[in-house]
Amino acid sequence: MSTIEKSTEQKSVNQQLPPSIPMIKVLPNLKRLVENPLEVWKGYIEEYGDIVSFNFGGSNRGIMSIHPEFSQHILQKNNKNYIKSKVQTELLAQYLGKGLLTADGEYWLRQRRLIQPGFHRAKLAALTDIMQQVIDDFMVDLEAKAEGGKEIEMAHEMMELAFRVVAKSLFGTETNDELLTRLGDRITVIQKFLVRQVRQPYLRWWFNWSGKTQTHLDLAEDAGEMILQVIGDRRKSKEEYDDLLDMLLSARYEDTGEGMTDRQLLEECMVLFAAGHETSANSLVWTLYLFTQHPEVVQKIREELAQVIGNRKIAFEDLRQLEYITQVVKESMRMYPPAWVTDRLSVADDEILGYKIPKDTVALTFIYGAHHNPKVWDQPEEFRPERFTKENMKDKHKFSYFPFGGGPRLCIGNNFAMMEMQLAIASLVQKFDFKLVENQQIEMQPLVTLRPKYGIKMRLRKK
Ligand code: HEM
Repeated sequence: MSTIEKSTEQKSVNQQLPPSIPMIKVLPNLKRLVENPLEVWKGYIEEYGDIVSFNFGGSNRGIMSIHPEFSQHILQKNNKNYIKSKVQTELLAQYLGKGLLTADGEYWLRQRRLIQPGFHRAKLAALTDIMQQVIDDFMVDLEAKAEGGKEIEMAHEMMELAFRVVAKSLFGTETNDELLTRLGDRITVIQKFLVRQVRQPYLRWWFNWSGKTQTHLDLAEDAGEMILQVIGDRRKSKEEYDDLLDMLLSARYEDTGEGMTDRQLLEECMVLFAAGHETSANSLVWTLYLFTQHPEVVQKIREELAQVIGNRKIAFEDLRQLEYITQVVKESMRMYPPAWVTDRLSVADDEILGYKIPKDTVALTFIYGAHHNPKVWDQPEEFRPERFTKENMKDKHKFSYFPFGGGPRLCIGNNFAMMEMQLAIASLVQKFDFKLVENQQIEMQPLVTLRPKYGIKMRLRKK
């Protein structure tokens, strides 16, 4: 075959879209698709293959895949061709401002370069004491609530814990609890409203007309004022604090040698609050749920803790040695990835795996599907932390497991989150046994993050 023939053949292959899901398969599933995209998408993948395309009205096209090459291509290898969706850069940014999560292009890159060093493992060591202090205080409250075998809604509790961890890591342990509670309440209300806007885009006109949008924008402004007050106080303070705000305040742009303005600091703080607690909270509550089903895993964690830590306090240097807890956390995020999908928009025509990705296509890396892919994971519905030993992971594609995303927009808080979850789980299992309250429905709800739809009620027994 001549070179020209070869390239023509190649071109004709690349003109094809991935197998398309016919409307006749989409329409009857619309309700299920909104309520439970995980099962419906998994069904499409089983029927049409690891990469599928679909139409969602007019000329709007999406391509969704669990193939590791696809995820790596979109998020890493050809990431310049894929911008973040408008949900993040416009809708979210309306409330949170332009911080790392919601910014794009040159501005994002400059901010990422500035902030990244503050999240390196070595820097995080300084946060161990703050995190442990928050967890210890939280355990005291939890113990009081658990007294007499009372039912506790653990999804709510873990949200509370993760919020306190991120709030105190950002603003230090000295910050007024009452202010943090008010801030937390506002952020929770705003996030709930954002979820409604994402789920019910057809009601946006009504949200605007009825004044709901404005009410929530006012709340965001109110939250912003509180954060500006903390920033202002800190600028005046002569003391050194080993927290994230100090890190943000002392960071300097390479080119100008200057630091961030108050508005920039505010926007980055808002984003860290929003991105940094719901994900960890979900991961923690799903892990506790798995504990109720696998007491043998809890036992093994306790043995590891007894061996590595004994009766002393956990130090940052111990975390690397807590290999089994790390495997448990990773396996829990495989089964219940808190961020279950990432979405991007192509800015120019592209191709992957022999298929065409036209300009303006929504490209979805279906993280949950990839983590449950039976071609990659033996018995994917079984909880087996041992999957994550170095030996068992050595032949896996980097993008067969990516709970924190990948490429330049990899979660900046990944090490922070791992550390937080290791510390929290160590304290929880050292203190309590967990029992699921009978007769409750446990169901996944994939909103912005993967939550338990009806919460998860447990009874805690002090060890
Ligand atoms: C289990 C916990 C967490 C999970 C599973 C998680 C997951 C993710 C994922 C998948 C992304 C990439 C989204 C995309 O590519 O579209 C992301 C981005 C981000 N995460 Fe996390 N995250 C977690 C915890 C945290 C924490 C604790 C923080 C902060 C303290 C944080 C801050 C951020 C920020 C700022 C971004 C945007 C980064 C950028 O685009 O430059 N996350 N996270």
